[in-house]
Amino acid sequence: MPIEPVRWAHDRLELLDQTLLPLREVVRHYARWEDVADGIRTLVVRGAPAIGVAAAYGVVLAARESHAKTYDALAADLETAIKGLAATRPTAVNLFWALERMRRTALGLAGQSPEAVRVRLLAEAETIRAEDIAANRAMGAHGVALVPDGARILTHCNAGALATAGYGTALGVIRAAHERGKVALVWVDETRPVMQGSRLTAWEMVYEGIPHRLIPDVAAGSVMAQGEVDMVVTGADRIAANGDTANKIGTYAVAVLAQHHRVPFYVAAPFSTIDASLASGREIPIEERDASEVRRTGAHQTAPEDSPVYNPAFDVTPAALITAIITEHGIFRPPYRFV
Ligand code: MRU
Repeated sequence: MPIEPVRWAHDRLELLDQTLLPLREVVRHYARWEDVADGIRTLVVRGAPAIGVAAAYGVVLAARESHAKTYDALAADLETAIKGLAATRPTAVNLFWALERMRRTALGLAGQSPEAVRVRLLAEAETIRAEDIAANRAMGAHGVALVPDGARILTHCNAGALATAGYGTALGVIRAAHERGKVALVWVDETRPVMQGSRLTAWEMVYEGIPHRLIPDVAAGSVMAQGEVDMVVTGADRIAANGDTANKIGTYAVAVLAQHHRVPFYVAAPFSTIDASLASGREIPIEERDASEVRRTGAHQTAPEDSPVYNPAFDVTPAALITAIITEHGIFRPPYRFV
């Protein structure tokens, strides 16, 4: 059974609650866009492409919730939902990309009946979801060429099936390489403070039977120094026109370590993650999350309640540290010039 974190069933949106993994596999059902926005904010669904797909279905739910009898009244309700969904998380551009696509779909139906718009919006969300899975499989097929036989691959955060509509970006490349027998070991960074590596990537590795070993983030340099890493591959939340890449906090440190140890550092991401309107990574908005994520590890408090905290959820890896960017349209190498 493939992992399906986001799907439409029985007239509702279903999200696999990622806050409960790896201990419990609970599917939550959503009939209101406001609850989907909440699910995005609280990380029930997370990962750039998965957030975009969930938000697209959020717009579908908004159209169904609306009692509008005219196109204009429905368009006003949709605009409220799109703004509300857009206000959830600032860094992953896939969210805004998907919402814009839903907005344009609705605008293209100006004057039509609310029922016709509802039907068409659902079809668009389903297409976004299907395209994401296809893009991930294409990324896997391209990326596998970069993976040496017997590869020991390090990854940070979770850019797997859980972070997308299915199959994954960075883990898509790893899955494709594993299917061809090329993967000896995946080093999984635990990814403090929310533990997307240990809770989610390790869970996917166990689910697929891919050989892996979990390490604390602070061990990444040490395993590279021991010559135990052949390549790094991560996902991305937003890629600027020059290739600078925002991804989970800690990615930048891994890229610096990789350069020092002459280990190739790859980013795998679909074109929906590229924001060509931004010249460089300096312009990428970085989400700051609650201090409690840092003061606690799970339910355990591991810092004084009064200690001030800085908790950026993402950092920017400069293009100069990125060996290549793997996309559904092929592999891009520096100098990056996305338009
Ligand atoms: O805070 P998260 O869990 O949404 O952050 C996720 C990441 O940083 C992923 O690496 C990125 O979204 C790529 S997912 C294919």
